[in-house]
Amino acid sequence: MDYSSALPWTLESLNFAGIDVARVRHNQDLFLLLCSASFVESGSDLYTHNLIEHFDGDLELQAWLREHWEHEELQHGRALAAYVRHVWPEFDWDAGFKAFWNDYGALCTNEQLEPSRGLELAARCVVETGTASLYRALNDIVDEPVLKQLTNNIKSDEVRHYKHFYQAFQRYRESERLGRYKVFRAILRRVNEIRNEDSDIALRHVFNQCYPQHKDDKAAFLKVAGPAQALLRRHIPAEMTVKMLLKPLNLPPRLLQTLEKPLAKISEKLFLH
Ligand SMILES: [Fe+2]
Ligand SMILES: [Fe+2]
Repeated sequence: MDYSSALPWTLESLNFAGIDVARVRHNQDLFLLLCSASFVESGSDLYTHNLIEHFDGDLELQAWLREHWEHEELQHGRALAAYVRHVWPEFDWDAGFKAFWNDYGALCTNEQLEPSRGLELAARCVVETGTASLYRALNDIVDEPVLKQLTNNIKSDEVRHYKHFYQAFQRYRESERLGRYKVFRAILRRVNEIRNEDSDIALRHVFNQCYPQHKDDKAAFLKVAGPAQALLRRHIPAEMTVKMLLKPLNLPPRLLQTLEKPLAKISEKLFLH
């Protein structure tokens, strides 16, 4: 079935031929960040199937996952990969993705989902917070017009995904009578998982594909990936990230105000090493 009419934007709406290659091609940090993001997004169909199974019987959520969310996430992967191929044609994207997928695909199993549906939805809010912050930071970093447009499109999708998962979470919070402490722990678990896995594995595979002679050389990897991660860290929208992360806790406004500032200070460390 063709779902392209349901997509909020399409690949064809981006003017790839008009990319100002000279403006980005020299930027290795950006190459690493875009390429690793394209790897993670391109594997989204695997989580969709896991999630659809997890929400068996919730027809509304399943339909949204199947008909909108999956296609939008895969389009993020396709668009980013197309951009990377256009600007850095010497990079073998397919080979890099294949190696990444062999590693990463094995980690995306149902056992990794929260057993409670409501808690899984709180955890999905964490994931969408991470991606919304990532693309907002990238959008802030880039000055090449086509990439500016692309990162803005993706960022808007991620914020919308967050809202959708958050609304579904609210339904389950009631029916599963989820207390704040349980939700807090689920949020923390997913933050830690993201820190340990996704971005790091993807970056490693981009690095390995570029420098096969330094494969598994941790010092060489850090030398290349460190500056890219530092660049991203400087641009992470701290306040937005913290607001989105805390929202499912439904904290009293005064407590929220007290927490937001100190947490914003450490938020750059939440999704990055
Ligand atoms: Fe995405
Ligand atoms: Fe998303």
